[in-house]
Amino acid sequence: LDTTVLLLDLEKAYDKPDGVQRGLIAEIISRFEKKGFYLRGMKLMDVKKALGEQHYAEHEGKPFFPGLVKYICSGPVVAMVWEGPNVVASGRQMIGATKPHESAAGTIRGDYALTVGRNLIHGSDAVESAKKEIALWFPEGLSQWKSCQHPWIY
Ligand code: PPS
Repeated sequence: LDTTVLLLDLEKAYDKPDGVQRGLIAEIISRFEKKGFYLRGMKLMDVKKALGEQHYAEHEGKPFFPGLVKYICSGPVVAMVWEGPNVVASGRQMIGATKPHESAAGTIRGDYALTVGRNLIHGSDAVESAKKEIALWFPEGLSQWKSCQHPWIY
């Protein structure tokens, strides 16, 4: 089974709608639950600059890097680990394209976001990066509980 890390941004932006004011946490979690994926870890956390820089290290040097790190560190995020068959690929489809205006309706960004700088949610782009991101965001490890719904879903 694959796993993926999702970071639901809860930034309090003074000039744009934000996750807390818009109450999107339950909506986003609900989509992954209803799809049949299984939650292995979740926490609300403040993001220190070092963690933000490490998470986006591959983008260091790109013009948007400083703003992206500032954005991810500017308020608490909900970090989640979801597990299930092809969850990385499916999760990215459910999230939608990086640029919300290119995201299909029915995706999270397509339905709820307007600009790339406030695109609501991060999803690991590959199984390998998910493994690295799980180690980075959940150094304490993941829950070992097993959902009893599994035999009915896959
Ligand atoms: S790249 O250059 O193609 O590798 O970048 P991309 O994979 O599209 O995006 C990498 C992450 O950077 C975010 N991003 C931006 N943030 C703010 N402003 C701009 N212009 C911008 N362009 C890209 C993008 O949302 C990706 O972050 P995550 O958290 O993975 O979605």
